[in-house]
Amino acid sequence: MKNFSLAAIGGIAGLVAACLLLSWQPGIAPIEPPEPASFSAEAIARGQQLAALGGCATCHTRDGGAALTGGRAMPTPFGTLYTTNLTPDRDTGIGAWSFAAFKRAMREGISREGAFLYPAFPYPAFTRVGDEDLRDLYAYLMSRPAIAAATPDDRLRFPYNQRRIMAGWNFLFFDEGPFQPKPQRDAAWNRGAYLVEGLGHCSACHSPRNVLGAERSGRQRFAGATVDGWQAPPLNELSKSAIAWTQATLLEYLRNGFSRYHGAAAGPMAPVAAGLTQQPDADLQAMARYLATFLPEQPGDFSPEKRKVELEQRTYGTLQPVSSSGGRIFSGACMACHHDGDGPRLDGVQPSLAVSGKLYAATPDNLLKVILEGIGNPARPQLGYMPAFRHSLNNEQIIALARYLREDFAGLPAWPDLEFKVAKLR
Ligand code: HEC
Ligand code: HEC
Ligand code: HEC
Repeated sequence: MKNFSLAAIGGIAGLVAACLLLSWQPGIAPIEPPEPASFSAEAIARGQQLAALGGCATCHTRDGGAALTGGRAMPTPFGTLYTTNLTPDRDTGIGAWSFAAFKRAMREGISREGAFLYPAFPYPAFTRVGDEDLRDLYAYLMSRPAIAAATPDDRLRFPYNQRRIMAGWNFLFFDEGPFQPKPQRDAAWNRGAYLVEGLGHCSACHSPRNVLGAERSGRQRFAGATVDGWQAPPLNELSKSAIAWTQATLLEYLRNGFSRYHGAAAGPMAPVAAGLTQQPDADLQAMARYLATFLPEQPGDFSPEKRKVELEQRTYGTLQPVSSSGGRIFSGACMACHHDGDGPRLDGVQPSLAVSGKLYAATPDNLLKVILEGIGNPARPQLGYMPAFRHSLNNEQIIALARYLREDFAGLPAWPDLEFKVAKLR
Protein backbone atom coordinates (compact mmCIF):
# COMPACT_ATOMS: atom_id res chain seq x y z
CA MET A 1 0.00 0.00 0.00
CA LYS A 2 2.76 2.37 1.08
CA ASN A 3 4.75 1.46 -2.00
CA PHE A 4 1.71 2.07 -4.11
CA SER A 5 1.05 5.60 -2.81
CA LEU A 6 4.74 6.44 -3.10
CA ALA A 7 4.63 5.26 -6.68
CA ALA A 8 1.48 7.34 -7.28
CA ILE A 9 3.05 10.48 -5.82
CA GLY A 10 6.18 9.85 -7.86
CA GLY A 11 4.06 9.36 -10.96
CA ILE A 12 2.11 12.59 -10.46
CA ALA A 13 5.28 14.56 -9.72
CA GLY A 14 6.80 13.11 -12.88
CA LEU A 15 3.74 14.08 -14.91
CA VAL A 16 3.75 17.67 -13.60
CA ALA A 17 7.48 17.95 -14.29
CA ALA A 18 6.97 16.56 -17.80
CA CYS A 19 4.17 19.07 -18.46
CA LEU A 20 6.28 21.98 -17.27
CA LEU A 21 9.16 20.78 -19.37
CA LEU A 22 6.97 20.23 -22.42
CA SER A 23 5.32 23.61 -21.99
CA TRP A 24 8.65 25.38 -22.39
CA GLN A 25 9.53 25.98 -26.01
CA PRO A 26 12.53 27.98 -27.19
CA GLY A 27 12.14 31.10 -29.33
CA ILE A 28 13.63 31.01 -32.84
CA ALA A 29 15.98 33.92 -33.57
CA PRO A 30 14.46 36.76 -35.64
CA ILE A 31 15.74 37.32 -39.17
CA GLU A 32 15.73 40.28 -41.55
CA PRO A 33 12.70 39.86 -43.86
CA PRO A 34 13.91 37.91 -46.94
CA GLU A 35 14.02 39.67 -50.32
CA PRO A 36 10.95 38.72 -52.40
CA ALA A 37 13.38 38.21 -55.31
CA SER A 38 14.94 35.31 -53.38
CA PHE A 39 11.85 33.19 -54.18
CA SER A 40 11.11 31.76 -57.62
CA ALA A 41 7.98 32.87 -59.48
CA GLU A 42 6.83 29.23 -59.59
CA ALA A 43 7.13 28.83 -55.83
CA ILE A 44 5.14 32.04 -55.26
CA ALA A 45 2.41 31.02 -57.73
CA ARG A 46 2.11 27.56 -56.23
CA GLY A 47 2.08 29.09 -52.74
CA GLN A 48 -0.82 31.32 -53.72
CA GLN A 49 -2.80 28.29 -54.87
CA LEU A 50 -2.00 26.48 -51.62
CA ALA A 51 -2.99 29.51 -49.55
CA ALA A 52 -6.36 29.52 -51.36
CA LEU A 53 -6.88 25.87 -50.40
CA GLY A 54 -5.85 26.56 -46.79
CA GLY A 55 -8.16 29.58 -46.54
CA CYS A 56 -5.35 31.67 -45.00
CA ALA A 57 -6.81 34.97 -46.21
CA THR A 58 -10.36 34.04 -45.15
CA CYS A 59 -9.39 33.85 -41.48
CA HIS A 60 -6.42 36.23 -41.53
CA THR A 61 -8.32 39.24 -42.93
CA ARG A 62 -10.74 41.41 -40.96
CA ASP A 63 -13.82 42.88 -42.67
CA GLY A 64 -12.64 45.82 -44.76
CA GLY A 65 -8.98 45.17 -43.86
CA ALA A 66 -6.09 44.55 -46.27
CA ALA A 67 -5.64 40.89 -47.22
CA LEU A 68 -3.68 38.75 -44.72
CA THR A 69 -3.25 41.53 -42.14
CA GLY A 70 -5.29 39.59 -39.56
CA GLY A 71 -7.38 41.09 -36.77
CA ARG A 72 -10.45 39.00 -37.49
CA ALA A 73 -12.28 38.04 -34.28
CA MET A 74 -12.76 34.32 -33.79
CA PRO A 75 -15.35 33.63 -31.10
CA THR A 76 -14.77 30.31 -29.27
CA PRO A 77 -16.52 28.74 -26.27
CA PHE A 78 -13.49 29.89 -24.23
CA GLY A 79 -13.51 33.57 -25.27
CA THR A 80 -12.47 35.55 -28.34
CA LEU A 81 -9.21 35.14 -30.24
CA TYR A 82 -7.88 37.33 -33.05
CA THR A 83 -6.09 36.18 -36.15
CA THR A 84 -2.59 37.51 -36.71
CA ASN A 85 -0.91 39.58 -39.40
CA LEU A 86 0.65 37.17 -41.93
CA THR A 87 2.30 39.82 -44.11
CA PRO A 88 6.11 40.16 -43.82
CA ASP A 89 5.97 43.27 -41.62
CA ARG A 90 8.91 42.97 -39.23
CA ASP A 91 7.15 44.10 -36.06
CA THR A 92 3.48 43.18 -36.39
CA GLY A 93 3.61 40.42 -39.03
CA ILE A 94 5.87 37.45 -39.78
CA GLY A 95 8.71 39.45 -41.39
CA ALA A 96 11.16 38.24 -38.73
CA TRP A 97 10.14 34.59 -39.14
CA SER A 98 12.66 32.21 -40.71
CA PHE A 99 11.33 29.25 -42.66
CA ALA A 100 12.15 27.09 -39.63
CA ALA A 101 9.88 29.27 -37.45
CA PHE A 102 7.05 29.15 -40.01
CA LYS A 103 7.37 25.39 -40.34
CA ARG A 104 7.29 24.93 -36.57
CA ALA A 105 4.08 27.00 -36.33
CA MET A 106 2.38 24.94 -39.03
CA ARG A 107 3.66 21.56 -37.81
CA GLU A 108 3.62 22.04 -34.03
CA GLY A 109 1.38 25.05 -33.32
CA ILE A 110 4.15 27.12 -31.70
CA SER A 111 4.90 30.75 -32.58
CA ARG A 112 8.37 32.07 -33.45
CA GLU A 113 8.67 33.48 -29.93
CA GLY A 114 7.92 30.03 -28.46
CA ALA A 115 4.30 30.62 -27.41
CA PHE A 116 1.67 27.90 -27.80
CA LEU A 117 -0.95 28.68 -30.44
CA TYR A 118 -4.59 27.72 -30.03
CA PRO A 119 -6.23 25.20 -32.35
CA ALA A 120 -8.62 27.89 -33.70
CA PHE A 121 -5.57 28.07 -35.98
CA PRO A 122 -6.03 24.69 -37.67
CA TYR A 123 -2.50 23.41 -37.02
CA PRO A 124 -3.89 19.95 -36.08
CA ALA A 125 -4.65 19.67 -39.83
CA PHE A 126 -1.78 21.80 -41.18
CA THR A 127 0.71 19.51 -39.41
CA ARG A 128 0.06 17.04 -42.27
CA VAL A 129 1.40 19.43 -44.95
CA GLY A 130 4.66 18.35 -46.62
CA ASP A 131 7.89 20.36 -46.57
CA GLU A 132 7.74 21.39 -50.21
CA ASP A 133 4.23 22.83 -49.90
CA LEU A 134 5.27 24.64 -46.71
CA ARG A 135 8.20 26.19 -48.59
CA ASP A 136 5.91 27.44 -51.36
CA LEU A 137 3.42 28.86 -48.83
CA TYR A 138 6.29 30.64 -47.09
CA ALA A 139 7.52 32.04 -50.44
CA TYR A 140 4.04 33.36 -51.19
CA LEU A 141 3.51 34.99 -47.79
CA MET A 142 7.02 36.51 -47.65
CA SER A 143 6.57 38.07 -51.10
CA ARG A 144 3.36 39.95 -50.14
CA PRO A 145 3.67 43.67 -49.37
CA ALA A 146 4.60 44.19 -45.71
CA ILE A 147 1.73 46.00 -43.97
CA ALA A 148 1.85 47.07 -40.33
CA ALA A 149 -1.27 45.92 -38.42
CA ALA A 150 -1.08 44.94 -34.77
CA THR A 151 -3.15 41.98 -33.59
CA PRO A 152 -5.72 42.95 -30.93
CA ASP A 153 -5.24 41.28 -27.52
CA ASP A 154 -7.13 38.02 -26.99
CA ARG A 155 -10.09 37.99 -24.65
CA LEU A 156 -10.00 34.45 -23.28
CA ARG A 157 -11.23 33.47 -19.83
CA PHE A 158 -8.96 32.01 -17.16
CA PRO A 159 -7.52 29.34 -17.31
CA TYR A 160 -7.81 29.26 -21.12
CA ASN A 161 -5.79 32.48 -21.42
CA GLN A 162 -2.75 30.54 -20.15
CA ARG A 163 -1.18 29.41 -23.40
CA ARG A 164 0.94 26.83 -21.55
CA ILE A 165 -2.10 24.66 -20.93
CA MET A 166 -1.97 23.88 -24.64
CA ALA A 167 0.96 21.58 -23.82
CA GLY A 168 -1.57 19.33 -22.05
CA TRP A 169 -4.11 19.72 -24.85
CA ASN A 170 -1.50 18.79 -27.45
CA PHE A 171 -0.46 15.81 -25.33
CA LEU A 172 -4.06 14.55 -25.19
CA PHE A 173 -5.41 15.41 -28.64
CA PHE A 174 -2.71 16.50 -31.08
CA ASP A 175 -1.34 13.94 -33.52
CA GLU A 176 1.70 15.73 -34.90
CA GLY A 177 3.48 15.02 -38.15
CA PRO A 178 3.27 15.08 -41.94
CA PHE A 179 0.82 12.91 -43.84
CA GLN A 180 1.70 9.22 -44.04
CA PRO A 181 0.32 7.58 -47.19
CA LYS A 182 -1.56 4.29 -46.74
CA PRO A 183 0.24 1.71 -48.90
CA GLN A 184 -2.95 -0.36 -49.37
CA ARG A 185 -4.61 2.64 -51.09
CA ASP A 186 -3.76 4.00 -54.53
CA ALA A 187 -2.02 7.28 -55.31
CA ALA A 188 -5.21 9.27 -56.01
CA TRP A 189 -6.84 8.29 -52.70
CA ASN A 190 -3.68 9.21 -50.80
CA ARG A 191 -3.41 12.52 -52.64
CA GLY A 192 -7.04 13.27 -51.73
CA ALA A 193 -6.49 12.34 -48.10
CA TYR A 194 -3.39 14.56 -48.00
CA LEU A 195 -5.36 17.57 -49.27
CA VAL A 196 -8.59 17.01 -47.28
CA GLU A 197 -6.86 16.19 -43.98
CA GLY A 198 -4.03 18.70 -44.42
CA LEU A 199 -4.32 22.15 -45.96
CA GLY A 200 -8.03 21.70 -46.77
CA HIS A 201 -8.77 21.18 -43.02
CA CYS A 202 -12.27 20.08 -44.04
CA SER A 203 -12.92 18.28 -40.76
CA ALA A 204 -12.19 21.46 -38.75
CA CYS A 205 -15.72 22.55 -39.72
CA HIS A 206 -17.38 19.25 -40.61
CA SER A 207 -16.53 17.23 -37.47
CA PRO A 208 -18.14 17.83 -34.06
CA ARG A 209 -15.80 18.73 -31.18
CA ASN A 210 -15.55 17.56 -27.57
CA VAL A 211 -15.86 19.92 -24.57
CA LEU A 212 -12.19 20.85 -24.87
CA GLY A 213 -12.55 21.79 -28.51
CA ALA A 214 -10.85 18.73 -30.04
CA GLU A 215 -12.39 17.10 -33.10
CA ARG A 216 -14.18 13.82 -32.45
CA SER A 217 -13.04 10.77 -34.34
CA GLY A 218 -14.41 7.37 -35.37
CA ARG A 219 -18.04 7.51 -36.53
CA GLN A 220 -18.16 11.18 -35.41
CA ARG A 221 -15.57 12.07 -38.03
CA PHE A 222 -17.28 14.31 -40.63
CA ALA A 223 -20.56 13.93 -38.72
CA GLY A 224 -21.36 17.67 -39.06
CA ALA A 225 -20.97 20.68 -36.75
CA THR A 226 -22.03 24.29 -36.17
CA VAL A 227 -19.91 27.15 -37.60
CA ASP A 228 -20.90 30.83 -37.17
CA GLY A 229 -24.61 30.02 -36.97
CA TRP A 230 -24.40 27.73 -40.02
CA GLN A 231 -24.50 23.96 -40.02
CA ALA A 232 -21.61 22.26 -41.78
CA PRO A 233 -23.54 19.14 -42.84
CA PRO A 234 -22.34 15.60 -42.24
CA LEU A 235 -20.15 14.30 -45.07
CA ASN A 236 -20.51 10.67 -43.98
CA GLU A 237 -23.41 8.21 -43.77
CA LEU A 238 -25.32 10.64 -41.52
CA SER A 239 -25.89 12.96 -44.53
CA LYS A 240 -29.56 13.94 -44.87
CA SER A 241 -29.20 15.02 -48.48
CA ALA A 242 -32.33 14.52 -50.62
CA ILE A 243 -30.21 12.81 -53.28
CA ALA A 244 -27.39 10.65 -51.92
CA TRP A 245 -23.94 12.13 -52.57
CA THR A 246 -21.62 10.22 -54.89
CA GLN A 247 -18.01 10.70 -55.91
CA ALA A 248 -19.25 12.29 -59.16
CA THR A 249 -21.59 14.82 -57.49
CA LEU A 250 -18.94 15.64 -54.87
CA LEU A 251 -16.55 16.44 -57.70
CA GLU A 252 -19.18 18.66 -59.38
CA TYR A 253 -19.69 20.56 -56.09
CA LEU A 254 -15.96 20.96 -55.38
CA ARG A 255 -15.33 22.16 -58.94
CA ASN A 256 -18.17 24.68 -59.16
CA GLY A 257 -19.31 25.51 -55.63
CA PHE A 258 -22.63 24.16 -56.82
CA SER A 259 -24.22 20.86 -57.72
CA ARG A 260 -27.45 20.42 -59.70
CA TYR A 261 -28.29 17.61 -57.33
CA HIS A 262 -27.64 19.39 -54.04
CA GLY A 263 -27.49 23.16 -54.36
CA ALA A 264 -25.04 25.94 -53.70
CA ALA A 265 -22.14 26.44 -51.28
CA ALA A 266 -23.19 29.39 -49.13
CA GLY A 267 -22.08 30.88 -45.79
CA PRO A 268 -18.65 29.75 -44.53
CA MET A 269 -18.50 27.14 -47.32
CA ALA A 270 -18.57 29.81 -50.05
CA PRO A 271 -14.97 31.04 -49.52
CA VAL A 272 -13.81 27.42 -49.14
CA ALA A 273 -15.46 26.59 -52.46
CA ALA A 274 -13.94 29.70 -54.04
CA GLY A 275 -10.49 28.42 -52.98
CA LEU A 276 -11.26 24.96 -54.36
CA THR A 277 -12.11 26.35 -57.81
CA GLN A 278 -8.45 27.45 -58.04
CA GLN A 279 -7.05 23.94 -57.51
CA PRO A 280 -5.85 21.62 -60.30
CA ASP A 281 -8.66 19.35 -61.46
CA ALA A 282 -6.66 16.20 -60.69
CA ASP A 283 -6.50 17.34 -57.05
CA LEU A 284 -10.27 17.92 -56.89
CA GLN A 285 -10.82 14.44 -58.36
CA ALA A 286 -8.51 13.01 -55.71
CA MET A 287 -10.41 14.82 -52.93
CA ALA A 288 -13.78 13.56 -54.20
CA ARG A 289 -12.33 10.07 -54.40
CA TYR A 290 -11.13 10.20 -50.78
CA LEU A 291 -14.32 11.80 -49.43
CA ALA A 292 -16.45 9.20 -51.19
CA THR A 293 -14.96 6.50 -48.92
CA PHE A 294 -16.92 8.04 -46.00
CA LEU A 295 -20.24 7.65 -47.87
CA PRO A 296 -22.43 4.55 -47.91
CA GLU A 297 -22.33 2.47 -51.09
CA GLN A 298 -25.24 3.14 -53.51
CA PRO A 299 -26.95 0.42 -55.54
CA GLY A 300 -25.39 -0.10 -58.98
CA ASP A 301 -28.38 1.44 -60.82
CA PHE A 302 -28.49 4.59 -58.62
CA SER A 303 -28.94 7.69 -60.79
CA PRO A 304 -28.91 11.18 -59.25
CA GLU A 305 -30.59 12.49 -62.42
CA LYS A 306 -33.51 10.06 -62.12
CA ARG A 307 -33.99 10.96 -58.46
CA LYS A 308 -33.86 14.68 -59.29
CA VAL A 309 -36.59 14.33 -61.92
CA GLU A 310 -38.74 12.40 -59.41
CA LEU A 311 -38.32 15.02 -56.71
CA GLU A 312 -39.05 17.89 -59.07
CA GLN A 313 -42.15 16.25 -60.46
CA ARG A 314 -43.40 15.53 -56.98
CA THR A 315 -42.73 19.10 -55.82
CA TYR A 316 -43.64 21.34 -58.70
CA GLY A 317 -46.35 18.98 -59.98
CA THR A 318 -48.42 19.30 -56.83
CA LEU A 319 -47.57 22.84 -55.71
CA GLN A 320 -50.43 24.84 -54.26
CA PRO A 321 -48.70 28.23 -53.98
CA VAL A 322 -51.73 30.29 -53.00
CA SER A 323 -53.36 27.95 -50.49
CA SER A 324 -51.14 28.97 -47.56
CA SER A 325 -49.47 32.15 -46.39
CA GLY A 326 -46.04 30.51 -46.90
CA GLY A 327 -47.00 29.63 -50.45
CA ARG A 328 -48.11 33.18 -51.19
CA ILE A 329 -44.83 34.58 -49.87
CA PHE A 330 -42.92 32.07 -52.00
CA SER A 331 -44.71 32.99 -55.22
CA GLY A 332 -44.29 36.70 -54.52
CA ALA A 333 -40.71 36.80 -53.25
CA CYS A 334 -38.92 33.70 -54.50
CA MET A 335 -40.63 32.07 -57.48
CA ALA A 336 -39.17 34.49 -60.07
CA CYS A 337 -35.71 33.03 -59.48
CA HIS A 338 -36.62 29.58 -58.10
CA HIS A 339 -39.28 28.28 -60.47
CA ASP A 340 -39.65 24.86 -62.06
CA GLY A 341 -37.26 25.61 -64.88
CA ASP A 342 -39.87 26.69 -67.46
CA GLY A 343 -39.69 30.44 -66.86
CA PRO A 344 -37.05 33.00 -67.81
CA ARG A 345 -33.55 32.70 -66.28
CA LEU A 346 -33.04 35.87 -64.32
CA ASP A 347 -29.73 35.48 -62.62
CA GLY A 348 -27.16 32.74 -62.05
CA VAL A 349 -27.88 29.09 -61.47
CA GLN A 350 -31.40 29.32 -60.01
CA PRO A 351 -31.03 26.29 -57.74
CA SER A 352 -33.95 23.91 -57.79
CA LEU A 353 -35.31 24.09 -54.27
CA ALA A 354 -36.86 20.65 -54.73
CA VAL A 355 -33.40 19.10 -54.31
CA SER A 356 -31.73 21.71 -52.07
CA GLY A 357 -29.95 20.08 -49.15
CA LYS A 358 -30.94 23.03 -46.97
CA LEU A 359 -34.60 21.90 -46.96
CA TYR A 360 -33.76 18.33 -45.98
CA ALA A 361 -31.22 19.13 -43.25
CA ALA A 362 -31.79 18.12 -39.62
CA THR A 363 -32.06 21.80 -38.62
CA PRO A 364 -33.48 24.85 -40.44
CA ASP A 365 -30.34 26.95 -39.80
CA ASN A 366 -28.87 27.08 -43.30
CA LEU A 367 -32.22 27.77 -44.99
CA LEU A 368 -32.97 30.57 -42.51
CA LYS A 369 -29.47 32.01 -42.90
CA VAL A 370 -29.83 32.11 -46.70
CA ILE A 371 -33.25 33.79 -46.49
CA LEU A 372 -32.08 36.35 -43.91
CA GLU A 373 -28.65 37.12 -45.38
CA GLY A 374 -29.00 36.16 -49.05
CA ILE A 375 -25.85 35.08 -50.89
CA GLY A 376 -23.71 38.17 -51.45
CA ASN A 377 -20.37 36.37 -51.89
CA PRO A 378 -21.06 33.34 -54.06
CA ALA A 379 -18.32 30.77 -54.57
CA ARG A 380 -18.11 31.94 -58.19
CA PRO A 381 -19.76 35.09 -59.60
CA GLN A 382 -21.38 33.05 -62.38
CA LEU A 383 -23.56 31.30 -59.79
CA GLY A 384 -25.36 34.59 -59.22
CA TYR A 385 -26.37 36.56 -56.18
CA MET A 386 -29.39 36.04 -54.00
CA PRO A 387 -30.90 39.10 -52.28
CA ALA A 388 -31.20 39.20 -48.44
CA PHE A 389 -34.75 39.20 -47.07
CA ARG A 390 -33.82 40.35 -43.55
CA HIS A 391 -35.56 43.69 -44.05
CA SER A 392 -38.42 42.74 -46.38
CA LEU A 393 -39.78 39.73 -44.47
CA ASN A 394 -40.61 39.68 -40.76
CA ASN A 395 -40.07 36.66 -38.49
CA GLU A 396 -43.62 35.43 -38.90
CA GLN A 397 -43.39 35.50 -42.69
CA ILE A 398 -40.04 33.71 -42.67
CA ILE A 399 -41.45 31.01 -40.38
CA ALA A 400 -44.45 30.50 -42.69
CA LEU A 401 -42.13 30.36 -45.72
CA ALA A 402 -39.72 27.88 -44.10
CA ARG A 403 -42.61 25.67 -43.00
CA TYR A 404 -44.06 25.72 -46.51
CA LEU A 405 -40.73 24.84 -48.16
CA ARG A 406 -40.10 22.02 -45.70
CA GLU A 407 -43.58 20.49 -45.97
CA ASP A 408 -44.49 21.13 -49.60
CA PHE A 409 -41.05 20.94 -51.23
CA ALA A 410 -39.20 18.40 -49.07
CA GLY A 411 -42.35 16.56 -48.00
CA LEU A 412 -41.09 16.39 -44.42
CA PRO A 413 -42.68 17.47 -41.11
CA ALA A 414 -41.96 21.13 -40.27
CA TRP A 415 -38.93 21.77 -38.02
CA PRO A 416 -40.17 22.07 -34.42
CA ASP A 417 -38.09 25.06 -33.31
CA LEU A 418 -38.60 27.61 -36.08
CA GLU A 419 -39.74 30.52 -33.84
CA PHE A 420 -36.71 30.19 -31.60
CA LYS A 421 -34.29 29.70 -34.50
CA VAL A 422 -35.45 32.68 -36.56
CA ALA A 423 -35.25 34.98 -33.55
CA LYS A 424 -31.79 33.67 -32.65
CA LEU A 425 -30.31 33.80 -36.15
CA ARG A 426 -31.68 37.26 -36.87
C1 HEC B 1 -9.90 28.88 -39.27
C2 HEC B 1 -9.15 30.10 -39.26
C3 HEC B 1 -7.70 30.07 -39.72
C4 HEC B 1 -7.21 29.63 -40.92
C5 HEC B 1 -7.98 28.99 -42.07
C6 HEC B 1 -5.81 29.90 -40.91
N1 HEC B 1 -5.44 30.46 -39.72
FE1 HEC B 1 -3.57 31.02 -39.18
N2 HEC B 1 -4.26 31.50 -37.32
C7 HEC B 1 -5.58 31.53 -36.94
C8 HEC B 1 -5.68 32.04 -35.59
C9 HEC B 1 -6.96 32.22 -34.79
C10 HEC B 1 -4.35 32.33 -35.18
C11 HEC B 1 -3.92 32.86 -33.83
C12 HEC B 1 -3.82 31.70 -32.88
C13 HEC B 1 -3.40 32.11 -31.48
O1 HEC B 1 -3.41 33.30 -31.17
O2 HEC B 1 -3.07 31.20 -30.72
C14 HEC B 1 -3.50 31.97 -36.29
C15 HEC B 1 -2.11 32.07 -36.25
C16 HEC B 1 -1.27 31.75 -37.31
C17 HEC B 1 0.16 31.82 -37.26
C18 HEC B 1 1.00 32.28 -36.06
C19 HEC B 1 1.29 33.73 -36.24
C20 HEC B 1 1.86 34.44 -35.05
O3 HEC B 1 2.20 35.62 -35.20
O4 HEC B 1 1.95 33.84 -33.97
C21 HEC B 1 0.63 31.46 -38.49
C22 HEC B 1 2.08 31.38 -38.96
C23 HEC B 1 -0.52 31.15 -39.31
N3 HEC B 1 -1.65 31.33 -38.57
C24 HEC B 1 -0.45 30.77 -40.63
C25 HEC B 1 -1.55 30.41 -41.39
C26 HEC B 1 -1.47 29.96 -42.76
C27 HEC B 1 -0.21 29.89 -43.59
C28 HEC B 1 -2.75 29.66 -43.14
C29 HEC B 1 -3.22 29.08 -44.47
C30 HEC B 1 -2.54 27.89 -44.92
C31 HEC B 1 -3.60 29.90 -41.99
N4 HEC B 1 -2.86 30.36 -40.96
C32 HEC B 1 -4.97 29.64 -41.98
C33 HEC B 1 -6.65 31.11 -37.69
C34 HEC B 1 -6.58 30.59 -38.97
C1 HEC C 1 -15.12 27.20 -42.50
C2 HEC C 1 -15.88 26.02 -42.31
C3 HEC C 1 -15.83 24.97 -43.42
C4 HEC C 1 -14.73 24.38 -43.97
C5 HEC C 1 -13.26 24.64 -43.66
C6 HEC C 1 -15.23 23.43 -44.93
N1 HEC C 1 -16.59 23.44 -44.96
FE1 HEC C 1 -17.77 22.36 -46.23
N2 HEC C 1 -19.41 23.32 -45.49
C7 HEC C 1 -19.43 24.24 -44.47
C8 HEC C 1 -20.78 24.74 -44.29
C9 HEC C 1 -21.24 25.76 -43.27
C10 HEC C 1 -21.58 24.07 -45.25
C11 HEC C 1 -23.07 24.29 -45.55
C12 HEC C 1 -23.14 25.35 -46.63
C13 HEC C 1 -24.35 25.33 -47.47
O1 HEC C 1 -25.12 24.37 -47.42
O2 HEC C 1 -24.53 26.28 -48.25
C14 HEC C 1 -20.69 23.18 -45.98
C15 HEC C 1 -21.10 22.32 -47.01
C16 HEC C 1 -20.30 21.38 -47.62
C17 HEC C 1 -20.76 20.36 -48.53
C18 HEC C 1 -22.22 20.14 -48.94
C19 HEC C 1 -22.84 19.17 -47.96
C20 HEC C 1 -24.32 18.97 -48.12
O3 HEC C 1 -24.81 17.90 -47.75
O4 HEC C 1 -24.99 19.92 -48.57
C21 HEC C 1 -19.67 19.64 -48.92
C22 HEC C 1 -19.66 18.46 -49.88
C23 HEC C 1 -18.53 20.21 -48.26
N3 HEC C 1 -18.94 21.26 -47.46
C24 HEC C 1 -17.24 19.75 -48.41
C25 HEC C 1 -16.12 20.37 -47.82
C26 HEC C 1 -14.75 20.01 -48.13
C27 HEC C 1 -14.33 18.93 -49.09
C28 HEC C 1 -13.96 20.82 -47.37
C29 HEC C 1 -12.46 20.90 -47.33
C30 HEC C 1 -11.83 21.25 -48.59
C31 HEC C 1 -14.84 21.68 -46.59
N4 HEC C 1 -16.14 21.37 -46.91
C32 HEC C 1 -14.40 22.63 -45.70
C33 HEC C 1 -18.33 24.68 -43.75
C34 HEC C 1 -17.00 24.38 -44.05
C1 HEC D 1 -33.13 37.61 -57.69
C2 HEC D 1 -33.17 36.18 -57.70
C3 HEC D 1 -33.49 35.46 -56.41
C4 HEC D 1 -34.59 35.62 -55.56
C5 HEC D 1 -35.69 36.62 -55.66
C6 HEC D 1 -34.46 34.59 -54.55
N1 HEC D 1 -33.33 33.83 -54.79
FE1 HEC D 1 -32.72 32.26 -53.70
N2 HEC D 1 -31.04 32.11 -54.86
C7 HEC D 1 -30.77 32.87 -55.98
C8 HEC D 1 -29.50 32.46 -56.55
C9 HEC D 1 -28.84 33.04 -57.80
C10 HEC D 1 -28.99 31.44 -55.71
C11 HEC D 1 -27.66 30.70 -55.85
C12 HEC D 1 -26.59 31.63 -55.36
C13 HEC D 1 -25.20 31.05 -55.38
O1 HEC D 1 -25.03 29.85 -55.37
O2 HEC D 1 -24.29 31.84 -55.41
C14 HEC D 1 -30.00 31.24 -54.67
C15 HEC D 1 -29.91 30.29 -53.66
C16 HEC D 1 -30.93 29.99 -52.76
C17 HEC D 1 -30.87 28.91 -51.81
C18 HEC D 1 -29.73 27.93 -51.63
C19 HEC D 1 -29.97 26.83 -52.58
C20 HEC D 1 -29.21 25.59 -52.31
O3 HEC D 1 -29.67 24.55 -52.78
O4 HEC D 1 -28.21 25.58 -51.63
C21 HEC D 1 -32.06 28.92 -51.11
C22 HEC D 1 -32.48 27.97 -50.01
C23 HEC D 1 -32.83 30.02 -51.63
N3 HEC D 1 -32.11 30.63 -52.62
C24 HEC D 1 -34.08 30.35 -51.17
C25 HEC D 1 -34.79 31.47 -51.59
C26 HEC D 1 -36.03 31.89 -51.01
C27 HEC D 1 -36.76 31.16 -49.90
C28 HEC D 1 -36.40 33.04 -51.66
C29 HEC D 1 -37.59 33.91 -51.38
C30 HEC D 1 -37.67 34.47 -50.06
C31 HEC D 1 -35.38 33.32 -52.67
N4 HEC D 1 -34.42 32.35 -52.59
C32 HEC D 1 -35.38 34.38 -53.53
C33 HEC D 1 -31.58 33.86 -56.49
C34 HEC D 1 -32.73 34.34 -55.91
